[in-house]
Amino acid sequence: MESLLSLQEPRTPHTAGRAVVLAEQFFIITHQSCELWLKQLGADLDATAEALLPPCDTHDLELGLEFLLRSCELIRVLQQQLLVLEKLPLRYFAEFRSYLDTASGAQSAQFRRLTTLLGNSHHQGSLYEAFAAAVEYHGQTVDDVCRRGVESGVLHRLAEALVDLGNGYWHWKVAHLALVSKMVGEQGGTGGSSGVDFLARRVTRPFPELRRLRGKVHHP
Ligand code: HEM
Repeated sequence: MESLLSLQEPRTPHTAGRAVVLAEQFFIITHQSCELWLKQLGADLDATAEALLPPCDTHDLELGLEFLLRSCELIRVLQQQLLVLEKLPLRYFAEFRSYLDTASGAQSAQFRRLTTLLGNSHHQGSLYEAFAAAVEYHGQTVDDVCRRGVESGVLHRLAEALVDLGNGYWHWKVAHLALVSKMVGEQGGTGGSSGVDFLARRVTRPFPELRRLRGKVHHP
């Protein structure tokens, strides 16, 4: 625990005043907490995919669902972290931002990994592929599962949890966009992007196929 608690070192000189140093510490702690939660989320999603993928000893749909439901909660926690950071006073952020140099959340390898697992509005990620393989293994199609709804049992609950997870990710992207807009306005990002415009183009809704098939319930 001591080594974990020694990793928050603001770069702001103490001469800038206590409030600025504390604001930078707040910024650092929020980012580090996100990385910790991303570690758990990535591991839980790996475990979900492993439990869904057939045919192997670890194939267990109920276990996969348990991991997936926890992941939905974790992504909500990640979104909440962003809302907390909205309480970063702008005047202090402006004072320490130059010390961040070119450091950016966009460098997070764990977040990139999440993108591979979840996919985006146009591409299915590896998690959906594992789900589709499980559905096929149990003699159904994803269309069947969406049409039959609760009659498909755990496969239906998995489909619903995937959409919840996708919406959680979407909410994270929107919350991040709102935070960035509040904190930098039209300024570019420390990672070299145009900032808000760049991020707005990256807001995305994972699991497009599930959304399309579920929507067919309105026109059976
Ligand atoms: C004041 C707070 C924040 C600001 C101003 C900010 C700003 C930005 C900007 C401008 C980008 C685009 C890349 C760049 O040019 O740097 C970005 C990307 C990103 N940031 Fe933040 N950010 C903030 C907080 C956070 C937090 C708390 C996290 C938590 C992990 C985070 C994670 C990310 C990620 C993962 C990306 C890549 C997004 C993507 O690929 O769509 N950011 N951020």
